[in-house]
Amino acid sequence: MSGGRVLHWGSPSHLLLALAWAVLFVPLSDAQLEVGFYDYTCPRAEQLVRTVVRAAIRRDPGIGAGLVRLFFHDCFVRGCDASVLLDAVPGSDDAVEKASQANSPSLRGYGVIERAKRVVERRCRRTVSCADIVAFAARDASGLLGGIDYDVPAGRRDGRVSNASEVLNSLPPPFSNASRLVDSFAAKGLTADDMVTLSGAHSFGRTHCSAIAFRLYPLVAADMDAAYGRSLRTRCPAATGRRDRVVHLDPVTGLRLDNQYYRNVQTREVPFTSDVTLLTRDDTAALVDLYARNRTVWMSRFAAAMVKMGNLDVLTGTQGEIRRFCNRVN
Ligand code: HEM
Ligand SMILES: *[C@@H]1O[C@H](CO)[C@@H](O)[C@H](O)[C@H]1NC(C)=O
Ligand SMILES: *[C@@H]1O[C@H](CO)[C@@H](O)[C@H](O)[C@H]1NC(C)=O
Ligand SMILES: *[C@@H]1O[C@H](CO)[C@@H](O)[C@H](O)[C@H]1NC(C)=O
Repeated sequence: MSGGRVLHWGSPSHLLLALAWAVLFVPLSDAQLEVGFYDYTCPRAEQLVRTVVRAAIRRDPGIGAGLVRLFFHDCFVRGCDASVLLDAVPGSDDAVEKASQANSPSLRGYGVIERAKRVVERRCRRTVSCADIVAFAARDASGLLGGIDYDVPAGRRDGRVSNASEVLNSLPPPFSNASRLVDSFAAKGLTADDMVTLSGAHSFGRTHCSAIAFRLYPLVAADMDAAYGRSLRTRCPAATGRRDRVVHLDPVTGLRLDNQYYRNVQTREVPFTSDVTLLTRDDTAALVDLYARNRTVWMSRFAAAMVKMGNLDVLTGTQGEIRRFCNRVN
């Protein structure tokens, strides 16, 4: 080969170039998320998000639970693409995920994500997706309120579609029995074990009385510890005409993400049918028992299950976009 710079088709240099091209670009069409995705493009991204989440939790510890639930509700509907953050398009009648009864008015943490996005955007314009910020924030909340820290693979892109009628098809309701829960997680490629492990998130945060009224009036005694049922009725009076009150999901350590949830399941001191129903199958009950006894095994499996959930139907590479504002498409 004369003139080292010239490449001829079929030359060894060309083959090498083609190989390099394939390695660099072909995976984009089926790209994987990766830990440290922003190391070169926005090295402080995760740290900035954590600072915002920490400040928000200091003001209102409950918001940490809201952020973990936000991640779940994002990932289960159209994948982890921040579609849950989109506001309705002005002038359109199409309802967005946010407006679904599964999300409104109970889902919280939107303001924290918006603040984090603003801070990150100031340093790195149009670089860090809202979907990744939601995933980072859920991890940070788990760390700050549960000591559960883990690496979050990133590189998600933001979706451009949000449709309210997809929400109730994807998220199981709180009156679900075990087989319905298993089925709705299986529809997302998650196992019964993942479902039990992730349900441990109900060890912090709150529920509105409207979501549990069906178990209290009348009291379904077989399913619920009697004293716990009486105390819920005090906090959630039957006549809630004006205000939908809230109660802790975990009556013991309500602001701590820990394995207390599994003990509550065993003593039937849990608000939802979908919690107590974990005792109705041998496999799920055995896992509840293991987690109730062993906090560290649950913590590490919870971290792994959050990472797994974070892979649901993600957009990567050139799919979707990097939103400028998390509540609207570019
Ligand atoms: C297994 C099926 C599940 C059902 C039926 C369910 C249902 C619910 C309901 C009805 C609420 C109360 C919302 C309110 O009224 O304020 C709630 C709260 C919550 N859920 Fe779930 N959930 C499930 C799984 C999960 C998963 C997988 C996670 C996360 C990994 C999660 C995290 C949370 C958190 C942290 C809260 C408290 C939110 C707050 O304090 O704002 N849930 N859930
Ligand atoms: C929203 O989803 C529903 C159910 O999947 C579908 O029938 C409807 O056409 C969708 N709406 C829009 C505006 O895409
Ligand atoms: C569980 O609930 C579904 C409806 O969501 C129902 O079809 C099914 O029969 C129930 N299974 C059991 C074992 O009760
Ligand atoms: C909990 O599980 C971990 C990891 O599997 C194990 O090393 C530890 O011995 C267990 N602790 C108890 C108290 O059973």
